[in-house]
Amino acid sequence: MAVFSSMLKIIRKGKCLFLLLLCLCVVAWIATFSNDGPVKSVQEGSSPLDGQHAEGFHRLELESEMVQSIEERVEEPPTKESCPENSPLLRGSLKLTFEPSLTLEQVEIENAEVVEGQYKPSDCTARQSVAILIPHRNREKHLLYLLYHLHPFLQRQQLHYAVYVIHQAGDATFNRAKLLNVGYLEALKDYNWDCFIFHDVDLVPENDHNLYMCAKQPKHLVVGRNSTGYKLRYKGYFGGVSAMTKDQFHKVNGFPNSYWGWGGEDDDLRIRVQLQKMAIVRPPPEVARYTMVFHNRDSGNQVNKDRMQLLRRTHQTWKNDGLNSCSYKVMSVHRAPLYINVTVDIGQPEQAH
Ligand code: BGC
Repeated sequence: MAVFSSMLKIIRKGKCLFLLLLCLCVVAWIATFSNDGPVKSVQEGSSPLDGQHAEGFHRLELESEMVQSIEERVEEPPTKESCPENSPLLRGSLKLTFEPSLTLEQVEIENAEVVEGQYKPSDCTARQSVAILIPHRNREKHLLYLLYHLHPFLQRQQLHYAVYVIHQAGDATFNRAKLLNVGYLEALKDYNWDCFIFHDVDLVPENDHNLYMCAKQPKHLVVGRNSTGYKLRYKGYFGGVSAMTKDQFHKVNGFPNSYWGWGGEDDDLRIRVQLQKMAIVRPPPEVARYTMVFHNRDSGNQVNKDRMQLLRRTHQTWKNDGLNSCSYKVMSVHRAPLYINVTVDIGQPEQAH
């Protein structure tokens, strides 16, 4: 009997021991499984002999990731410093020449860094991106002189810029203001320009301290010109060359479209600016000087006799006559080396329909 009971004790202890062993096995198995998990996927396909190999593979993968991220960083163009506030390239008062023998090829050779009318300084980031808009018809020689002087002038100012020539197709009366609206709308299709310069084709700047950049308020750049004894024509004069940011120009709904022929459209823009409680700023008179290339009044650009009447109504018309109502048909966009030529059909004066 005693033998039987001691045998029972041994069996019970054995059971406990067996259970204990089983538990240890399960714990060991779980531990092994959880440690091996991620490595296992790397080891798959590689030699089962080689734990070291797996580790090496892992390291290689990390290294190649690092190389890739370094390469990515190298591929990104290094961010250039902003160009200085005062360009060291400026020369001040310039000696302008108007050589009758000047050719477009010559001007192209002298401005080899201008590509399809556009230029960016190579060693710094320009402070503003500026679209120069030039309304044009039958003034090839004036355009040539302007390009000849303007390109180096703008490059010395270290600007990112493009020159747009907006050429009025057909023989309707010239409409400077509508062409400038078209230039603004078309230039924005190429790039989100910060600043727009509305530039007559026959005015050449005499001093490169006259910066072709926009200010907090609309800017008028022509204080004086040779033909008027370098005096401001009248207090509110806003013609010839002016500069407005995208926001400023948008706020006034651009130029009116309804001024056909010479005069009034620049005064209308001034009234729009004043209605928006903006002021017009000007550079010092000794800097804001221009030479006007002499010409007779063009045929097709007769004085606009209605301009005074139109100007009396600007405060009523500006909201519906401007960028938001500018209808036109682009006939062609030609990207020449020194300018983008937009030829446009802007229709006819209303009364001619
Ligand atoms: C015209 C303007 C012109 C100015 C200077 C004014 O009478 O309305 O358009 O710019 O004269 O010539």
